[in-house]
Amino acid sequence: MIQQREVPLIKEHLNRQPKSLLIRGGRIIDPSQQVDAIGDLFIADGKVRWLSTQGTFSAPENCPVVYARGMVVCPGFIDIHCHLREPGFEEKETIATGTRAAAKGGFTTVCCMPNTDPPVDSGATVEYILSVAANEGVVRVLPVGCVTKARAGSELADFSELSTSGVIAFSDDGNPIADSLLMRRALEYSRDSGLPVIDHCEDTSLSKAGVMNEGTVANRLGLKGIPAAAEESMVARDIELARVTGGRLHIAHVSTAGSVALIRRAKEGGIPLTAEVTPHHLTMTEERVTSPSGYDTNAKVNPPLRTARDVQALIAGLKEGVIDAIATDHAPHTDADKRCEFENAAFGISGFETALGSLMELVHRGELDLVTLVSKLTHEPASFLRRDDLGTLKADATADVTIFDPDAEWAVDPLAFASKGKNTPLAGCVLKGKVMATICGRKVVYKDDAIKLETARREAGA
Ligand code: DOR
Repeated sequence: MIQQREVPLIKEHLNRQPKSLLIRGGRIIDPSQQVDAIGDLFIADGKVRWLSTQGTFSAPENCPVVYARGMVVCPGFIDIHCHLREPGFEEKETIATGTRAAAKGGFTTVCCMPNTDPPVDSGATVEYILSVAANEGVVRVLPVGCVTKARAGSELADFSELSTSGVIAFSDDGNPIADSLLMRRALEYSRDSGLPVIDHCEDTSLSKAGVMNEGTVANRLGLKGIPAAAEESMVARDIELARVTGGRLHIAHVSTAGSVALIRRAKEGGIPLTAEVTPHHLTMTEERVTSPSGYDTNAKVNPPLRTARDVQALIAGLKEGVIDAIATDHAPHTDADKRCEFENAAFGISGFETALGSLMELVHRGELDLVTLVSKLTHEPASFLRRDDLGTLKADATADVTIFDPDAEWAVDPLAFASKGKNTPLAGCVLKGKVMATICGRKVVYKDDAIKLETARREAGA
């Protein structure tokens, strides 16, 4: 059912958009052109016009200036896996609220999964999402279409209709593609069309009724576990099918050391596949379920948070290039969906607004370097999308820019989220690393109160 629209929250702000903007003196990190230097970035009419790391750029008269000293200036983040819930679950999120949350998290492009109501298995639903996004969204929305009709797992969706309507990939996310023959056919289509098939790898006969990682913590809490094998057995099957078909396989939200090992071996063998990992699987373990007071349904997610050994393998896989991109799997839910017994709570974490802050923990601890982190959020997801106009600050690229302060500390307050989904296990945690401004094409779509747009004239007299 299509619900009444909400009034966009920052419309007034968006109506006063500068035509050009100079971002002065930040640390510009653009892995697409191996740039990591202090410099100036000038954007105008929705395009990158000038990136200067040698000498200062003299701003045109009256051009607004953002002073970015001490901050990182990089291409806008690209999230290849999120849930915007519209149409059908507007009580959890809408395209209006979800894209504002994305902007607050530094994302300028988001790919939304098709587990909506109706599911995205027809051209009409794709067109609906694109039209709401154009009218009410503040960042670029790229829909993912279903692999099977109604995500029911029995009959392939009309791939040709979906790709003509503009989907960027196919997935039954939330559900695996359990039928191996259907998965094979989907990958054959992928080979011919060039669009990837994103699989949520889970053998549900192994995971059935499981609510967290299988192991000692689940035993202690008396909760049914989801074994690593539920994921790994399907990753192994998919790799074999990618090998025989030559289709583009993408493994969603990799969560186990065994999956990393399988993907590494497949890539070494030249099999065409890519993979993503979420911020929560990179930074949290199953122990999170027990904190702060035990049975925290906000830490219930699918695939589940795993062990410290898995987390280390995921970080290593990311660094080595076994895992291509970081994707949030932003999964907003209502209070009612989460305020219940652990067994009955919905799976999912509202992730857009905490992604950077939690990932920066890895950088501050020396486990991941900043340039690699930025690459996994920008250049590499753009490569996955085969979009050389995104995820880059090359001249004439779309002016999608994120400015963040790597050292700013802030406490997570879900009530202050732009997302309707307040479901985060990080409530009250202090994160170090904060998005300060997000520019998407012609618009400043998010700006922290500490960021001021000054004028070049004032700057010259300063
Ligand atoms: O935790 C999850 N939530 N995992 C999924 O695969 C689906 C998602 C959702 O849609 O809520």
